[in-house]
Amino acid sequence: MLSRLFGFKKKDADDTAHAGDTEKYGNWSFIGTDMHSHLVPGVDDGAQTVEDSIQLIEQLRGMGYRNIITTPHIKFDHYPNNPATINAGLHTLQQALHERNIDMPVKAAAEYYIDDHFMQVLENEPLLTITDNQVLVEISFMFEPVRFGEILFKIQTKGYKPILAHPERYAYYHGNIEAYRELKERGCYLQLNTIALTGYYGRSVKLAAEDLLANGLYDYCGTDMHHIRHAEALRKVMQSSIMPTLQRYPFLNSKLELV
Ligand SMILES: [Fe+2]
Repeated sequence: MLSRLFGFKKKDADDTAHAGDTEKYGNWSFIGTDMHSHLVPGVDDGAQTVEDSIQLIEQLRGMGYRNIITTPHIKFDHYPNNPATINAGLHTLQQALHERNIDMPVKAAAEYYIDDHFMQVLENEPLLTITDNQVLVEISFMFEPVRFGEILFKIQTKGYKPILAHPERYAYYHGNIEAYRELKERGCYLQLNTIALTGYYGRSVKLAAEDLLANGLYDYCGTDMHHIRHAEALRKVMQSSIMPTLQRYPFLNSKLELV
């Protein structure tokens, strides 16, 4: 039923427009605010230098985005970031944007990997949030966290609303739309990595994204931009006939305008 509502056909993302026809379906200005990316220089596996960050931000601006909430990884074993490391890098980036007269508001939150370290941080410190109380989280690609439902409940008892990043990328949920519905029923928002629709992460991830979209289970979409190849994939979506479906879809990003 929802697939009819959103006019979605599974072949849409494959049906790309001709080269040079980039504005046929419009750009990303209807999304306005990107709320998942790795653009703070040198703090994770995203942009490594200020110049990398500027290049990616220029790409986003060129595709119609007007605000960026960038979300460095906080993952204790790999990227032991905290508000101090993230805000220092953000300050450097904001200065560079100002010096170059690039008009793009950028703030930072984080993408928290759910593990024991996260649970300690949740217990003891304020979290970096997308909005007042929304927290972007990711989980293992190998297995669902033990007692994930209880963890989602704990996040909410601390006053936050979890947004699960790229649910389409967790293979153990594939083919199980009820598992995704259950996450939503437990108060978890779901965020599409838009480039999943191109097959960037593989066919099974693409199919899962299409299924979630057709069932109206996504709340937000994000670029998860790390490097220039992600920008190229984002342009591929923009040139695809799936764009009208995305334009009709009630993503909540437009409610995230920065002040
Ligand atoms: Fe990410």
